Amino acid sequence: MSEIENIAKQMIAKGRGILAADESTGTMTKRLSSINIESTSENRLKFREALFSAEGIKNYIGGVILYDETIKQKTSSGKTIPELIRSFGSIPGIKVDIGTKKLAGSPEEKITEGLDGLRERLAEYYKLGARFAKWRAVYNISEEYPSKLAIKSNAHALARYAALVQEAKMVPIVEPEVLMDGKHDIMKCYKVTDGVLKECYKELKLHNVNLKGTILKPNMILPGNKSKDKSNTLEIAKMTLKCIKENVPNEVPGIAFLSGGQTEIEATQNLNEINKINDTNFLLSFSYGRALQQSALKNWAKNIRDINNTQKIFNHRSKMNGLSTSAKWSMDLEKQLTV
Ligand code: 13P
Repeated sequence: MSEIENIAKQMIAKGRGILAADESTGTMTKRLSSINIESTSENRLKFREALFSAEGIKNYIGGVILYDETIKQKTSSGKTIPELIRSFGSIPGIKVDIGTKKLAGSPEEKITEGLDGLRERLAEYYKLGARFAKWRAVYNISEEYPSKLAIKSNAHALARYAALVQEAKMVPIVEPEVLMDGKHDIMKCYKVTDGVLKECYKELKLHNVNLKGTILKPNMILPGNKSKDKSNTLEIAKMTLKCIKENVPNEVPGIAFLSGGQTEIEATQNLNEINKINDTNFLLSFSYGRALQQSALKNWAKNIRDINNTQKIFNHRSKMNGLSTSAKWSMDLEKQLTV
């Protein structure tokens, strides 16, 4: 097995998932401001260091996605952040897209940027210790969107990114996120995601990407957050698994779902249900940002010196999500946390 194929498996095998701690400074500033914490680089590091040195990383987090600022920072004891993550048995990775812009030709939609100079940036990140990368494309659902143009141009960019990442000997996380904003029902989300994934795999193959050395990070199939459709967990799990089976080639070792605005428990419960009915060879895991960090961040905001309880909360979330990768999560276990 090649090195990248090996890394891809390690990131999500054995009950592990991925911690997405790659919020841009802008996003992190919004999160911190909402809890009345000043967004200085020191505070951003403090919170992230608390998570990266939590015991939960060892058993449940196979990879941590970092932002450009964080991968270059050092801990209070002088270790680099990638060294800290390694010392907890996890693999450091890096977000390499530089965000979204209006898509010329369909300005209500977004295109992800960051291909210019990417080869050189990847070489630098590799030297800093990154062994995988992330690029996120976003698609909005409405009556007329996403357009063919948005689907095609974002898939093209994702494939060019993935080919460059593999050339740099790293694993690309391919993240086409169909947003849950809107009034649409679950079927609409299914159809849009189906079209998006088909186009992504067409482009990835065209760009000769080795699918065995990739991880797909898709949205789950959900009704819109303003929808009247109240599909239950089993329906969500069935539709999500069907969409994966119909679109993801067998060579892909695994899938790490994003949480996309679900609550922490919803994200865990849905993944648990998906794994209950998983009859494929895919590893079905998580790559959560908000759904792993929200409660921990809230606690930290109350007292930024209370690292113990912040880590306790994060460890619990990590464990609950870890259990959901083998359908062993339950609401009873969920309630066992006492902080
Ligand atoms: P959420 O799990 O908060 O959606 O974030 C995942 C992510 O990395 C988005 O790019």
